[in-house]
Amino acid sequence: MRSMKKRPVVVVTRRLPDVIETRMRELFDTRLNLEDKPLSRQELVDAVALADVLVPTLTDEIDADLLAKAGPDLKLIANFGNGIDHIDVPAALARGITVTNTPGVLTEDTADMAMALILAVARRIPEGSRIVPDGEWAGWSPTWMLGRRITGKRLGIVGMGRIGQALARRAKAFGLSIHYHNRRHVPARIEQELEATYWESLDQMLARMDIVSVNCPHTPATFHLLSARRLKLMKADAILVNTARGEVIDETALTRLIEAGAIAGAGLDVFEEEPAVNPRLLKLARQHKVVLLPHMGSATQEGRVDMGEKVIVNIKSFIDGHKPPDRVLL
Ligand code: DGY
Repeated sequence: MRSMKKRPVVVVTRRLPDVIETRMRELFDTRLNLEDKPLSRQELVDAVALADVLVPTLTDEIDADLLAKAGPDLKLIANFGNGIDHIDVPAALARGITVTNTPGVLTEDTADMAMALILAVARRIPEGSRIVPDGEWAGWSPTWMLGRRITGKRLGIVGMGRIGQALARRAKAFGLSIHYHNRRHVPARIEQELEATYWESLDQMLARMDIVSVNCPHTPATFHLLSARRLKLMKADAILVNTARGEVIDETALTRLIEAGAIAGAGLDVFEEEPAVNPRLLKLARQHKVVLLPHMGSATQEGRVDMGEKVIVNIKSFIDGHKPPDRVLL
């Protein structure tokens, strides 16, 4: 592990919680982006030319072209976030630049949001919460605003890492049976705790589930993992939830299937072209067939501070010549 100067130039591309910015200023020669909007491409080029350490977020495209413009001092990309699909990690490593992320600290918050989306879609919560303030509530009725019971239903989790497992714990408490597809089995002790059924075949799992939740990272191997062909395998009364990355689902195909009534609904916190959202999905949201959120799965005050602290630990450990705890390996 290459060490670096004790007070490196750390360029942070977005505003972070005050307590984190203050600590970073104390520890490092920190350059903050005081406007809370993504840096332009030219500003990013300037940032990598200047920085010893770059602290980007998922709104920055750190590709091979950009890395080719990095100055000789750039040795660490300490990502503020778990997902690293916006960083060309092989290109960074080939240039001798270490990459770190912030795993673990946003697990519970993201799992909460996945569970919230399942409930929101199944129990029509956003629709109900609009009806009351809009003055459209004429009183209780036995046949009005009926959603779908989730207790006793089957939940299929695509990607059983930390967040998938945290969702499974919540869902089990709600009386759902847990099914999962993953590259490999989770340890037997966790399978037993969750009473989880492993499906080697994603196709077969999708065909049997009442609710499907996407919890795997976006990598070249998972791009459009839920392709048009696979989405068509889902039951017509099933719902799909995604708090991972938009690119894992073929969003156009999903939209078409919901429009056609071939999938009952979806709860999406992430999209293929954020922050742009397919206008047809927006229309489905107005028809209350989908619930759309602005990528806020990990957005808690506590979580953002925890993420910032992890970034600081990774940078400090690198400065001291150690292997940072959250090094991204290929
Ligand atoms: C991450 O850290 O990758 C999350 O998507 C941010 O919410």
